[in-house]
Amino acid sequence: MQFSSFGKFFNRKTGIVDLMEDFGCAYQSEKPVYMLGGGNPAHIPQMQQCFRKQMREILDDGKAFDRMVGNYDVPQGESEFINNLAELLNQTYGWPITSKNIALSNGSQSSFFALFNAFGGDYSNGSFKQILLPLAPEYIGYTDIANNRELFKSTRPSIEYKNDGYFKYRVDFDALTDLKEIGAICVSRPTNPTGNVITDSELDKLSKIAKLQDVPLIIDGAYGIPFPGIIFNNASVIWDQHIILCFSLSKLGLPGVRTGIVIANEHTIEMLSHLNAIYQLAIGSTGPALVNSLVKSGKILKLSQNVIRPYYRQRMQEAANWVKHYMRDIPVLIHQPEGAIFLWLWFKNLPISTLELYRRLKSRGIFVVAGEHFFPGLESDDWQHKHECIRLSYAGNPDIVETGIRLIAEELKDCYRQ
Ligand SMILES: Cc1ncc(COP(=O)(O)O)c(C=O)c1O
Repeated sequence: MQFSSFGKFFNRKTGIVDLMEDFGCAYQSEKPVYMLGGGNPAHIPQMQQCFRKQMREILDDGKAFDRMVGNYDVPQGESEFINNLAELLNQTYGWPITSKNIALSNGSQSSFFALFNAFGGDYSNGSFKQILLPLAPEYIGYTDIANNRELFKSTRPSIEYKNDGYFKYRVDFDALTDLKEIGAICVSRPTNPTGNVITDSELDKLSKIAKLQDVPLIIDGAYGIPFPGIIFNNASVIWDQHIILCFSLSKLGLPGVRTGIVIANEHTIEMLSHLNAIYQLAIGSTGPALVNSLVKSGKILKLSQNVIRPYYRQRMQEAANWVKHYMRDIPVLIHQPEGAIFLWLWFKNLPISTLELYRRLKSRGIFVVAGEHFFPGLESDDWQHKHECIRLSYAGNPDIVETGIRLIAEELKDCYRQ
């Protein structure tokens, strides 16, 4: 039996496949495991209590439960939830959106699959358009989404050195040339893997470039505002007809319900709804049902600001302190952690690649993600920096994170000594 090119494309090992399979290895292992690899959100007790309470209310209201599990929703996604979300966003940000500007998906990973393939690739006039990722490193999950490796175009960022062992990537606008064959621009904000939050003025410039080129600016807010709000500095959220915002319920603490949200112009939402119908008939109803009343009351914003954000801010500070303590003899720089749930560490002149470091750590039960995977669109660029960084998640149990960082430091000391 043979696979078509489509089947072959998916039947291979990639960074995101390794990352998701590592969860399985880690949870089944009998030896102690230090999982600082994947993007699982923390289990924050106050959020878990809140979701359980929502679920109990749905169960107690027989009709709500029957509707949640017994019907296909329309392909755009559950209407009441969409209406409530439009109202919340308009009230909070003064936007003019209606329910026709929102579509749901089965997780934002599938929103990106749809959007990248809808705006990148072959056009009927014979042109081939790429997705511009203006700030590499970028999210590992974009890399293998499109059935075409050439789909992404990226540029190296400029690097700003900060005090106290930190650095920050900035969009190098001078390098953003030759944009005629661009089908869309996309940034994750906060950026996975670095925790960078591109500034309002960088975002504004990107928005102007997108408008001028008549292409969408896709902003991936999986960790961002309005929810789950894991941003530690002052950043605002913008929307316009050419801006596509992608949100998710995952980092609120609900990755298992697989709910993504897209806010876009009506034309794009119509296309996504049709795609939902063709590709998956309908979107799962559990996520919208679980958070509907939190959206209607606006409580989802308060929980994001008062529970989720402070929780991760504290976890980030602890993790950064452990890195500084255990890695004090190692040439390490930390990307300024401005949001999301990761630290991005840069080991200058690391004698081995971070893929090799990943393998050595994994054999000792320590899971991180090698930096090499986070440069979609820069695969052929032999920039040494790509091989000197790793991503650590600090969302797990604090003892595991601390011990993991200590053990990584030991392995690194060996590497540098050799
Ligand atoms: C930046 C970013 N975008 C999108 C996703 C996809 O999230 P989900 O499909 O769970 O909504 C993730 C998951 O970790 C992510 O980190």
